[in-house]
Amino acid sequence: MIPPATSTVQPVVDVHLGPGDLAAALRADILSGLTSEPKELQPKWLYDERGSELFDQITRLEEYYPTEAEREILSTNAATIVAAADADTIVELGAGTGDKTRALLDAARAHGRLERFIPFDVSEEFLRSTATTLAELYPGLLVHGVVGDFDRHLDRIPTGGRRLVVFLGGTIGNYAPGPRGELLRRIAAGMAPGDHFLLGTDLVKDPARLELAYDDPVGVTAAFTKNVLAVLNRELDADFELDRFDAVATWDATQEWVDLGLRSRVDQRVRVDALGLDVDFDAGEFMRTEVSAKFRIEEFTAELAAAGLDVEHWFTDRAGDFSVSLSVRRADAAR
Ligand code: SAH
Ligand code: AVI
Repeated sequence: MIPPATSTVQPVVDVHLGPGDLAAALRADILSGLTSEPKELQPKWLYDERGSELFDQITRLEEYYPTEAEREILSTNAATIVAAADADTIVELGAGTGDKTRALLDAARAHGRLERFIPFDVSEEFLRSTATTLAELYPGLLVHGVVGDFDRHLDRIPTGGRRLVVFLGGTIGNYAPGPRGELLRRIAAGMAPGDHFLLGTDLVKDPARLELAYDDPVGVTAAFTKNVLAVLNRELDADFELDRFDAVATWDATQEWVDLGLRSRVDQRVRVDALGLDVDFDAGEFMRTEVSAKFRIEEFTAELAAAGLDVEHWFTDRAGDFSVSLSVRRADAAR
């Protein structure tokens, strides 16, 4: 059959986290998180379909400045970035909707070398819709999505080509310092000498603004944080009552991160049937769901260098709220 003239090439999507793997990883992580002291859940479980939608709503909130600040940086500097990287392949880690990436794709197209875009994300529904949208918007661009976990599947990203690896939104801040250094080294290990890394990092600022950005008056962030309990109820037959927890966000001035999580309103016992587990919460007990670290440019330049990535440019928005670094992988970095 002759395809209709308007048909678009469907993107390729590799799934390294199918339903079975996802369920096994969720069980292992949640068992360890709910039985550790203090209790802690991994942020990757925030992004089921509903969580990804709620995050998208967060990015539109007046109080949540990072998205617009990073968009300003990317649209102002896209031509400089793509000229320095001179890449035929753009890999995007934690792509989400890929919305801000369009400024880079437009500039890379104009630069004339771009052939392939590889969005990578743990959230399959979002990854598929992002891959399809971008394949439609950029006819001729090979879109090859990868569903995977930064912590397990970075080595499954298709190889080859001169690369620009992009990691936006400040998602690196959702890692504590030790695992963050490890993640940066693994990202660098997947790059060839001369490949470029574009990284969004939110900057340390007035604590009141930070807390407002993560505790918005409409309650979208609270709904995003609480949604992880709905994920556990659905996926692990748990009986969390969302109204028995408050979402909290506090600036930790020592660690320089916003600490996000759930505080139990009452003494309570929760059943997680799929794990055969009863979990007790004391009234006032805090369970972390993510940290959102904020950075200082000089210190972070050193962290990148330790991972084998030398910064060529630091860009900030006009207000100085957010930063994006463009670094190049050194030839002597460990692979
Ligand atoms: N880059 C987008 C989205 C940021 S939200 C932006 O700047 O707006 C963080 C994204 O990372 C989400 O899409 C989430 O699904 C993904 N993510 C979180 N933890 C992940 C993990 N461990 N592995 C892969 N993707 C992850
Ligand atoms: C994805 N990540 C960078 C967001 C952040 O700002 O740390 C997640 C988020 N959590 C609550 N609001 C936004």
